[in-house]
Amino acid sequence: MSEQARKTAEALEYLTGFGNEHSSEAVPGALPIGRNSPQRAPLGLYAEQLSGSAFTEPRTHNRRSWLYRIRPSAAHPPFTRVDNGALRSAPFTEAVPDPNRLRWNPLPAPAPGTDFLAGLWTLGGNGDVTQRSGMAIHLYAANADMTDRVFSDSDGELLIVPERGGLLLRTELGLLAARPGDMAIVPRGVRFRVELLDADARGYVCENYGQPFELPNLGPIGANGLAAARDFQAPVAAYEDSDRPTEVINKFCGNLWSATYDHSPLDVVAWHGSHVPYVYDMRRFNVLGSISYDHPDPSIFTVLTSPSDTPGLAGVDFVVFAPRWLVGEDTFRPPYFHRNVMSEYMGLIEGAYDAKAEGFVPGGGSLHNMMSAHGPDHETFDRASAAELKPQKIDDGLAFMFETRWPITATAQAAGADHLQRDYDAVWQGLQRHFRG
Ligand SMILES: [Fe+2]
Repeated sequence: MSEQARKTAEALEYLTGFGNEHSSEAVPGALPIGRNSPQRAPLGLYAEQLSGSAFTEPRTHNRRSWLYRIRPSAAHPPFTRVDNGALRSAPFTEAVPDPNRLRWNPLPAPAPGTDFLAGLWTLGGNGDVTQRSGMAIHLYAANADMTDRVFSDSDGELLIVPERGGLLLRTELGLLAARPGDMAIVPRGVRFRVELLDADARGYVCENYGQPFELPNLGPIGANGLAAARDFQAPVAAYEDSDRPTEVINKFCGNLWSATYDHSPLDVVAWHGSHVPYVYDMRRFNVLGSISYDHPDPSIFTVLTSPSDTPGLAGVDFVVFAPRWLVGEDTFRPPYFHRNVMSEYMGLIEGAYDAKAEGFVPGGGSLHNMMSAHGPDHETFDRASAAELKPQKIDDGLAFMFETRWPITATAQAAGADHLQRDYDAVWQGLQRHFRG
């Protein structure tokens, strides 16, 4: 953590909008006008296209950016395998898929000198990285900046949810600050380095192997509501002109590979396009809900969705449970008892979640796999069944969910972790029978 990183984060400017064509130049005149690849790019820069989708995908799904950089990415020595640390990838075969409800406490504090990349710890996931389908859930705990190394993930985009401590993301396309309450996206293949804005950092990462996240369709909700495109912030171009050797760690088909460039690869002076990192303040989410009766399905809280080939069936949805009013009449207001074909991993950023009175703590997480029975704990059920139904503000917590179409298999380290709560089932004990025939 450096004072310089904090000052840099405070002064950041952003472009706004989601999925649109952005453009930015750190030096006036660096961006070619009217073409992407002129015979000689302006200012002696190299032009490079970064494609996050096939050339021929429909415009609504097409993602690519043109980068104008000091040296081309292609000029590098061979990549060689390095240790994967606690990172794991799909297919997840270390442990058998478990139908039990699982819940974890936060990760233990990392050893001194652990940076964001070294601090990534895989909980589980589904799909297959080589098929570009499915997702992985990682947690991170870090207490050091990444120095002289950058990370890029060929296997998927990274949705980063800080829970403790802010992050300064120095990406090829510019800088983003993400603090608790924000979420950030680093697209597939974009190199970045993480510096800490506080003494330590902790949080969650969804690695989405599938279609890039997009805003959900709104249907009868109309043209507004849920997450607004204008609240997503993309970086402005910012480059490093440095000849310090820099290690590029590339996650490729589940393994980490390393090559040391003789310069910083964060040397993009100008860029334009749609394959762009973002940060979004989840407190800006426009929460919609029932103003008559019943708890809506939690899909109403979807921030971003990664669609599959089947309409409405997400590879993964990112859902946020933000502060909101509950006003339903004759309604059991907390989330209902539920068995779901989709699999649900929940995390907590701050406060408490309205279906769990205790044990679900910031930095921890719960996994309710395909068709596993879950819902309010007995304390919450008893309280909510007897509560006076006056308007009630839920404003003491921020929780989120990664909801995915396939069951989630835990890694061996998650299934056997000391911080796995082995008594989680007990929260549903004590639910009394009330039926008397
Ligand atoms: Fe559920």
